[in-house]
Amino acid sequence: MKNLIIINNPLVKRDVTYLRDKRTKEYQFRLALRRISFILASEIAKQEFRTVECEVETPLEKTIGHSLEHQIVLVPVLRAGLSMVNSFVEMIPNAKVGHIGMERNEKTLEPRTYYYKTPKELNTSKTIVLDPMLATGGSASAAFSFLKQKGARDCSLACLISAPEGVRKMERDHPDVKIYTAVLDRELNENGYILPGLGDAGDRTFGTL
Ligand code: PRP
Ligand code: URA
Repeated sequence: MKNLIIINNPLVKRDVTYLRDKRTKEYQFRLALRRISFILASEIAKQEFRTVECEVETPLEKTIGHSLEHQIVLVPVLRAGLSMVNSFVEMIPNAKVGHIGMERNEKTLEPRTYYYKTPKELNTSKTIVLDPMLATGGSASAAFSFLKQKGARDCSLACLISAPEGVRKMERDHPDVKIYTAVLDRELNENGYILPGLGDAGDRTFGTL
């Protein structure tokens, strides 16, 4: 799994445990996902972003500062990806934000796109797709195929829990995309749910169980 980067951070490990716990209420679930997303954003920045020097004038003198070299486009996959976007936007305030609405068919597990809106800067930006769950990989793969068709070419995926099946599909379909994840779980069950996982991330985020 050469494209997979697992975040090694004690705060992330603690919060993943919190998210897995079936007793965790939706508002606590959203907060934990928000905290993990700050750390994911920071880790992705460390590995993917570059800076250019610029001049800045302090109250005392001029000095050299840094600005990001690239425009960043964030694309949360609805619904569950919405819980990650605010943390990323707080860390990268001038990021553009696109949205893709996707829903897995419960029987075939194939994703269906029901909404999209993306900024025109895709082909000159770094694009980060936000989705907490990488299960079969069908949704993530379809999201990147769509974004690449719209011009995206420098892409990564930020997620919370990945399954080996999804990572393998992404590496087959999009070998250029790095996957940043908080944890790699064991396998999928017969209904396409990640084990041990956390259940349905969208339902647990929004209380639609
Ligand atoms: C979940 C999750 C991913 C997808 C992952 O969304 O947020 O988008 O499933 O599964 P896959 O890798 O097998 O495609 P879901 O379709 O449940 O929609 P929701 O976020 O609206 O609940
Ligand atoms: N989507 C989820 O929300 N959870 C899973 O375990 C798999 C797909």
